[in-house]
Amino acid sequence: MGENAKRSSFLVFGAPAIGPEEADAARDVIMSGWIGTGPKSKLFEDRFGAYIGREHAVAVNSCTAALFLSLHALNLRPGDEVITTPLTFAATANVIEHVGARPVFVDVDAVTGLIDPGAVRNAVTRRTRAVLPVHLYGRPCAMDELTAICEQRGLALIEDCAHAIETEWRGRHAGTFGKAGCYSFYVTKNLTTVEGGMLLTDDASFAARVKRLALHGMSADAWARYSDKGYNHYQVVEPGYKFNMTDLQAAIGMVQLEKLGAMFAKRQALWRCYDERLRDLPLILPPPPELGTVHARHLYAVLVDEARCGVSRDRMISELHARNIGSGVHFVGQHLQPYYRDKYRLRPEQFPQATRHSLQTLSLPLSARVSERDVDDVVDAVRDVIQ
Ligand SMILES: Cc1ncc(COP(=O)(O)O)c(C=O)c1O
Repeated sequence: MGENAKRSSFLVFGAPAIGPEEADAARDVIMSGWIGTGPKSKLFEDRFGAYIGREHAVAVNSCTAALFLSLHALNLRPGDEVITTPLTFAATANVIEHVGARPVFVDVDAVTGLIDPGAVRNAVTRRTRAVLPVHLYGRPCAMDELTAICEQRGLALIEDCAHAIETEWRGRHAGTFGKAGCYSFYVTKNLTTVEGGMLLTDDASFAARVKRLALHGMSADAWARYSDKGYNHYQVVEPGYKFNMTDLQAAIGMVQLEKLGAMFAKRQALWRCYDERLRDLPLILPPPPELGTVHARHLYAVLVDEARCGVSRDRMISELHARNIGSGVHFVGQHLQPYYRDKYRLRPEQFPQATRHSLQTLSLPLSARVSERDVDDVVDAVRDVIQ
């Protein structure tokens, strides 16, 4: 191993840019006496909804919850099909299973790794009820084609925007094209509340149903019952869940929302550094954003083709780790995971591009906490492993 390419300390993959301002906001909430779901959660919903540009927002405890509730509120029945990408996190597919529907995976684009609209069109059947695209890495899916398919075939469009807070397609934010957009505020995301998520929609009754389902199916939340407005009895209208966001999380989220532009600019600069400094290596670098779109620069994912690089992706991960560099894999496709593979008898060759990406994709450290020096260290280490 080239010892000169080893960092002195471990570079954690996906470390959040969070600091004293968030700590102050959290302290204020703790000292206020109201730390659960309340006025701060409502304010965060309003501000995040206004930032993205949708009428109704429901803050929840994860993007998984937002995705689950979106599908639940569509009243899917056993046997209904939801078309999605296999190249995604487990949650995207799991929520389809949880509502009793069937995930129908289709292959991804060879270059971008995003769901292939042609494959979506071919996969629509009598039983299809919804399409669930993922704006992977922060790059927008082909929303013109996906919305056209959904409109023509009467399908609900639910966008997985876990990576896509800043993402835009032709002047519109990701998450504004269909019935609902679902965002993640998990620790590694572009905006974090430690854990958290948000569902946005323009449909008032859909939003009201989701809000109720997120809190036990009760007609009034805790703030509505206990606030200075006076006590109100609640009614259980349907059996719901416990997915609400707390004011402690929302307070952190509002500080993060104020910093969003600066954090995005930082990641854009780091992205350019990676592009320039890795250019001469045999890695396949992320494709440049399409004209008229904004890429949220969530994950800098390269492809490590063993035939070109002389090293496999998994070997690259362990060699980087030995040089004190953390990295990630987004993702090993769901079609390769035992549950989905066995239940639906899926074979890797049915999804050649998703399978190739699953074997080759490697995410390098990228967050507003990463410095240009860190990028230099990562590039030196990658170069050392390949040469
Ligand atoms: C594409 C995608 N969808 C959904 C999720 C779930 O987000 P959360 O952890 O907020 O539930 C993630 C989380 O990493 C993700 O990457």
